[in-house]
Amino acid sequence: MDSSFRIAPSILSADFSRLGEEVRDVVEAGADWIHFDVMDNHYVPNLTIGPVVCEAIRPHVKVPIDVHLMVTPVDSLVPMFAKAGADIITFHPEASQHVDRTLALIRDLGCKAGLVFNPATPLGWMDHVMDKIDLILLMSVNPGFGGQSFITEALNKLADARGRIEAWGQATGRSILLEVDGGVKVDNIGAIAAAGADTFVAGSAIFGSSDYKATITAMRNAIAESRRKAMRRHEV
Ligand code: DX5
Ligand code: ZN
Repeated sequence: MDSSFRIAPSILSADFSRLGEEVRDVVEAGADWIHFDVMDNHYVPNLTIGPVVCEAIRPHVKVPIDVHLMVTPVDSLVPMFAKAGADIITFHPEASQHVDRTLALIRDLGCKAGLVFNPATPLGWMDHVMDKIDLILLMSVNPGFGGQSFITEALNKLADARGRIEAWGQATGRSILLEVDGGVKVDNIGAIAAAGADTFVAGSAIFGSSDYKATITAMRNAIAESRRKAMRRHEV
């Protein structure tokens, strides 16, 4: 398993009137990725930001921009985000007419590709496209809004997804990241890491805090502690 982990602050909870400064600050505070939530008031009941905003923040940070598409149709937006500087593009499989084609399109444009699973979406969507996936994103809230509570069933689903990723890795030597999104806080991130996540989106927990660096550091410490505990369990 990939022993490193990533914190990806979701700019949905940032101050949009000062977005350039917000992304610079959060990277300075230790963010590994910027998570960029795209909502269309169609696939989800909310409307957010598009490629022009991605292009606007791109020069402000060097870290990967992780674009989470909550839109349908999907394919027409993919080239626009690739051109706007996205590094990773994920989409919900139910929102695409042809999941395999959309994954290939994202990769052909030079981006990493991922599938996003809503709380009730079965993991079986990944079965026949594992070779085209760079990451899997599990929603631990229903998509559409920041600031919701973590759905604890996501812990079981993370363990299931982790098992599939490990089996795939053993069979092929390839690695796939496992990202979680929704309701991630300092006090539950350790349990989420223990369940198998290696990449953590957090919006309100980081941008709603007064000290981004203290919050990201507390998250990192909680993940590291959870991993130390897991190692100790293995040693016994
Ligand atoms: C929800 C979005 C999330 C959201 C997370 O649809 O995909 O990325 O911003 O926000 P928090 O961390 O506040 O739950
Ligand atoms: Zn998201």
